[in-house]
Formats: sequence, structure tokens, C-alpha cells
Amino acid sequence: MWYTGPMSNTPFQIALIGSGVMGEVLAKGILAHQLCAPQELLITSPNVKQLARLAAEIGCATTTDNRAALDAEVILLAVKPGHLPSVLDQLQPGLTDHKPLILSIIAGATLATIAMQTGPDVPIVRVMTNTACLVGKGMSVLAPNPHVSPEQLARAEALFSAVGETVVSREEMLDAVTGLSGSGPAYIFLIAETLIDAGVLQGLPRAMARQLVLQTMIGSAELLRETGQHPGSLRDMVTSPGGTTITGIQVMEEYKVRAALLKVVEAATQRSAELGHKVEQAAKARRPH
Ligand SMILES: NC(=O)c1ccc[n+]([C@@H]2O[C@H](COP(=O)([O-])OP(=O)(O)OC[C@H]3O[C@@H](n4cnc5c(N)ncnc54)[C@H](OP(=O)(O)O)[C@@H]3O)[C@@H](O)[C@H]2O)c1
Repeated sequence: MWYTGPMSNTPFQIALIGSGVMGEVLAKGILAHQLCAPQELLITSPNVKQLARLAAEIGCATTTDNRAALDAEVILLAVKPGHLPSVLDQLQPGLTDHKPLILSIIAGATLATIAMQTGPDVPIVRVMTNTACLVGKGMSVLAPNPHVSPEQLARAEALFSAVGETVVSREEMLDAVTGLSGSGPAYIFLIAETLIDAGVLQGLPRAMARQLVLQTMIGSAELLRETGQHPGSLRDMVTSPGGTTITGIQVMEEYKVRAALLKVVEAATQRSAELGHKVEQAAKARRPH
């Protein structure tokens, strides 16, 4: 077994299971916001290369033994959905007396699916976040189960605030959240890519088209946020009679951009529910009979 970190029985504040893209970004956010000291953060994963790099870069403790996470007050699950059942199998024996706060960012893993393996009374918060966490601008929606205390929920919010904004919601909302803000960055990237190409088609140099599109997106989002105005009112403000903007909007309506976006989020929401069902079936298949 690979292990770097305190050799005493010092409990960790936070244990992150999974050292991939999200594990790394959350670890860095947690330490940047001083939510715990590096030596109070444990990262577990089978990927010894990733662990060695993270230990060297951020000074956290690391191990390949997921059971070491049971020494922490908070366990954050950041593995792919397919690895969840085996990880919970490893943790389960240690959860009978000790009930750490479990946070999961695993797409499709419901509170009930996780509780099926952790056993009853374990405080769990299911979180749907997005890739913008990588630049500290993530959108994380947190759904706690009834065993989570207000202090634990505040702690979970602080943790995800380190990588962006947070909202607390009921779990029933999470498929729609997945379809909207979870998958949302990919929709925005596709729109950005297309607008850049559109600028190039009209003769703009690509670098210039990219700068124009990004600043227009950022500026429009900031304007929406800062004014708090309805998007339609802000659009009206720049749509002069018989002008260029209304001509462009006419084409957007003709090509049913609104209808397409409504369908996009609906389809992604339905897919999230289907994938959740699959994760649940996998967990049921492992449950002792
Ligand atoms: N990326 C996103 O934008 C995003 C957004 C929202 C939610 N999520 C969710 O976040 C979770 C992690 O995504 P990711 O992009 O960080 O995935 P990732 O980069 O593939 O990272 C997964 C990590 O888990 C490790 N791992 C595999 N099996 C394990 C085990 N049995 N015990 C402990 N660790 C294990 C992997 O090690 P190896 O490298 O050896 O496989 C890897 O370090 C997913 O469930 C995903 O649904 C991701």
C-alpha cells in the first residue's frame, strides 16, 4: 500500500476519494481557501502517479487505501460512477459507529443509491457541480439527506464555494440541474465555437473573432447579473427598429434556436434520470442478499 502523510492517528478534516480532474481541483480550492491545512487533507486513489504529484505540489497526505478516508470528518467521493459500488463496499464496515459527512459529486448516484451501501443514518450530501470549477467559477447544487445537520451543510457549502457558487436544493431537482448547469458549459462551448467560426466566415481573423466572442459572452453575463434585469429587457435595449440586431434575431427565430435549447435541456435531463437508474441497478446488484 502506498502512503504519504502523518504517521500518527491524527484524524483528517477532509478525505477526497479520487485524484482525477475534479479531485485535484477541489483539493486545490479547499487549500486555497484554507478550509483545512494541507496535512489535514487526505487524497486516496489507485493512481500512484497522480498521488505523488499532488503530494509534492500541495503537501496533502495520500494513500491507495480508501479505508483511510474513514479517519476524516468529511469524505468527498470524486470517482467515476462505475467505481462507486466498490469504493462504498470498502468504506461500509467502518460506517457502523463512526458517521462522517459524505459528499458525492458522482453523476447519477442518488442519495438512496449511496445510502443503500453506507447503511442508515449516514449524513450524505449529493452535489451536482460543473467543469467551471477548474477556474473557480463552478456552479454546484447541493442536496442533503435528512441526517445532515445545519453545521454539516454549511461546511459542505463552504467547501464547494471554494470553487464557485453554491445553491442548496431538493434532490428531485438534480436531473434538471444536471441537464442545465452540469452539462451547460458544453452547450456554451459549442455556441462559442460556432460564433467564432461565424466571425471567421465574415472575414475576421480567428484570434480576433475569439476575443470578440468571449468578451461578448462574459460582458453579457455580467450585465445580466449586475442589472438583475430580465434577459428580454436587455435584448430590447440593443434592438433598434429595422436594425442589425433584430435582423439577426429574426434568423434565430426562423432556425428555432429557442425551441432547440428547450429540447437540449429536456433531453439531457431525461438522460440524467436514465443514467441514475443504471447507477442504482449497479448498487442493487452488489447489495448482500
Ligand atoms: N469533470 C467534470 O467536469 C465533472 C463535473 C461534475 C461532476 N463530475 C463527476 O465527478 C466524478 C469524477 O470525475 P473526474 O472528471 O474527476 O474523473 P477522473 O478524472 O476520471 O477521476 C477519477 C479518479 O478516481 C480514481 N479512481 C478510480 N477507481 C478508484 C477507486 N476504486 N478508489 C479511488 N479512486 C479511484 C481514478 O484513478 P485512475 O486515474 O487510476 O483511474 C481517478 O483519479 C465523476 O463521477 C463525475 O460524474 C465531473
